[in-house]
Amino acid sequence: MEAIVLVIGANGQLGSVLTASLQHKFGKDNVIASDLKYRENFKGIFEIIDATDRDRIQEVVVKYKITQIYHLAAILSAKGEETPLKTWDLNMRTLFNVLEVSRINNINKVFFPSSIAVFGEGAPLDQTSNTAYLNPATVYGISKAAGENWAQYYFLKYGLDVRSIRYPGVIGYQSMPGGGTTDYAVDIYHKAVLEEEFSCFLKENTTLPMIFMEDAIRATLELMDAPKENITIRTSYNIAGISFSPAEMVTEIRKLYPDFKVKYEPDFRQEIASRWPKSIDDSVAEEDWGWQAEFDLEAITSTMIQKLKEKYKTGSKNPEAFIL
Ligand code: SER
Repeated sequence: MEAIVLVIGANGQLGSVLTASLQHKFGKDNVIASDLKYRENFKGIFEIIDATDRDRIQEVVVKYKITQIYHLAAILSAKGEETPLKTWDLNMRTLFNVLEVSRINNINKVFFPSSIAVFGEGAPLDQTSNTAYLNPATVYGISKAAGENWAQYYFLKYGLDVRSIRYPGVIGYQSMPGGGTTDYAVDIYHKAVLEEEFSCFLKENTTLPMIFMEDAIRATLELMDAPKENITIRTSYNIAGISFSPAEMVTEIRKLYPDFKVKYEPDFRQEIASRWPKSIDDSVAEEDWGWQAEFDLEAITSTMIQKLKEKYKTGSKNPEAFIL
């Protein structure tokens, strides 16, 4: 069946790349990108949507006869701590709007991203399982844990086919992250290529689960393509990419930039990171829909550096200026 897809949060780190992949998969005319602001030079259909406005989502869904919604708008872990109540309000209100509009309009499939931020004290730090205790310490993590349960509720109560992944930190050259605790892992490559010193806001030995953008996007598409009867988890699936620390990244980067300089200046984000898992057990995703990551740290590093070098060569020194 043909899909007509709405992406909410299409200008974000993941949203921008996912939109391009969905355009490739379903055709440009069948993907409606949306965000708070128009994206300059965007090729395709774009609608301004403030996802806190349910009527506006409804309007766009009706206008284009949308059949799938990918809801990627949220305030992330570090930024969320500046304004906890606003973060809770925005993350939950936008999710409820998407779930309600989807229920009312009989949307076929909904994608809701969750995060490793749902874990906290009480869950094992190594090989954290899908069913490990959820005890998030950030408002972002609390909103994702609650969101997962609401996703499951809409599935159980209304039969809405909501699917979800708990993303590790996402690393990509196509876009910039914003407001996350894992953002350093993108920034570090930009500094390396620009041959600038990197100031790391986490301690050098802070191991976190990460995933390369290509893997993160492929996981999303594979989950959404999986036969409905294979989906045994209606809260959210753990997926693993590869785990490493800032020090391990630096070692890898120095193979290509031997003079790369780093200083460690941990801030409040260290505390957030120290409560998150170091590695993820994604065996349920593997069993249910065949998930398998491809990129290790070496492959991530060589691809990031090669692609960023190409981008910086074309002129702009502003990373925000070269989405995609
Ligand atoms: N990358 C996100 C963050 O750091 C985790 O979902 O907030």
